[in-house]
Amino acid sequence: MNHFLDIHKTNPDELRCMIDQASAMKQARLTRPKGAPDDDQPLAGRMVALIFEKPSTRTRVSFDVGVRQMGGQSMVLSGNDMQLGHGETIADTARVLSRYVDMIMIRTFDETVLMEMAEYASVPVINGLTDRTHPCQIMADILTYEEHRGPIKGKKVVWAGDGNNVCASFLHAAGQFGFDLTFTGPAQLDPEDEFVGLTRKAGSKVVIERDARKAVEGADLVVADTWVSMHDSQSSKERRHNMLRGYQINTELMRHAKPDALFMHCLPAHREEEVTSEVMDGPQSVIFDEAENRLHAQKAIMRWCLEV
Ligand code: CP
Ligand code: NVA
Repeated sequence: MNHFLDIHKTNPDELRCMIDQASAMKQARLTRPKGAPDDDQPLAGRMVALIFEKPSTRTRVSFDVGVRQMGGQSMVLSGNDMQLGHGETIADTARVLSRYVDMIMIRTFDETVLMEMAEYASVPVINGLTDRTHPCQIMADILTYEEHRGPIKGKKVVWAGDGNNVCASFLHAAGQFGFDLTFTGPAQLDPEDEFVGLTRKAGSKVVIERDARKAVEGADLVVADTWVSMHDSQSSKERRHNMLRGYQINTELMRHAKPDALFMHCLPAHREEEVTSEVMDGPQSVIFDEAENRLHAQKAIMRWCLEV
């Protein structure tokens, strides 16, 4: 059994196998209704717990549907309604859940909750987003890029805005899949030094460029995310908007990227804030393919976790 906790903690060959399997599984379903089961049923008889301590649309629905397509069953649990971390330790919840279910996906705040869950669970644990990383999202993003443009190895990816949890997982992926990442945003919101260091150590180029136009020059992919994440306090909203306004992705900025550059956003997006509707709904945007690919990528991740 394997935990899927972070991209930099997972072997690059195994990550590649997951992307390829996700692509093959997607192809195999192209003409089928979404509720139809897959031909093989690798999760038959398996039960998966999906725990959410933060809101979610994509992660919740794509995991639930993915489990069902593969013949398993899932239960969506709200952290607030559980004893998790309030009535008992994370370790005890992990031990108890392991007696009932075959796999646990958790979206939480502090990364230590995920780590403790993984340490004490005797079933695979999947990171469905923490304050620090969002690896499932980036697996879907790699799948999406490669579907549209071929191998991502050697490409230039530009992250604009807040060096947040999604940015961190993009950095990890840069190291593991061999692409370069340029971060453009205010210094106060730079990605963590530790993650930048890891990516450089893995042999990928990481550039920090304050000027958004210069940053996107030669970009194959431009990525944005919300300026205020779920773990950020609402009182920081105005300050963040003021810092980030110059990093909005709009048509003028996209003109500085390669003509065939793609635009991605994990969603939910704030139209006319971090990105204009013109870009979101324009020909370079692949945001809804990204959302769909959460399903396919996570199905491959779950199979890898359970080794089925
Ligand atoms: N991108 C993403 O994780 O979306 P949700 O918050 O809706 O799950
Ligand atoms: N950075 C965002 C991603 C949401 C999917 C957040 O953490 O709120």
